[in-house]
Amino acid sequence: MVRNVFVSAVVVTVAASWLVAVSVAEDKEKPKYTIKEVMKLHKDKLHEKFLEGKASKEDKEKLIAAYEAMGKNKAPVGDEKEWTAKSEALVKALKADDKDGFKKAVACKTCHDAHKKK
Ligand code: HEC
Repeated sequence: MVRNVFVSAVVVTVAASWLVAVSVAEDKEKPKYTIKEVMKLHKDKLHEKFLEGKASKEDKEKLIAAYEAMGKNKAPVGDEKEWTAKSEALVKALKADDKDGFKKAVACKTCHDAHKKK
């Protein structure tokens, strides 16, 4: 109930002021990981482990939690809907054990070109 009020308030605020909505959303629901923390998993090559079929159940759960949190962060640049869609595609591919789908979704350059500050 309180949450619904909060959500509608955010929706109204988004229409009125994008910036205000950002700060409200961040206060109420802080994502578990920052984008940079998620990218550390890429540096550790956890995504490659999954692509090679070597990821444990824990590895996969870690990646799923990371990408779910990533989608809750604001992308530094780029379309917010696309950012959410990209994060969701990563989560979906992991949950479905879909390596081809994951490979496409995890394409570093595609996402960096769209969402990372130059
Ligand atoms: C779904 C989008 C997305 C995908 C896929 C993605 N990245 Fe990123 N990455 C980002 C964004 C956004 C940033 C900028 C984060 C920031 O500035 O807060 C970033 C930043 C980084 C950074 C810099 C982190 C830092 O501490 O400044 C590294 C390293 C990185 N990515 C590695 C990778 C690698 C390697 C891959 C591919 C295996 C990859 N990323 C795939 C979105 C993505």
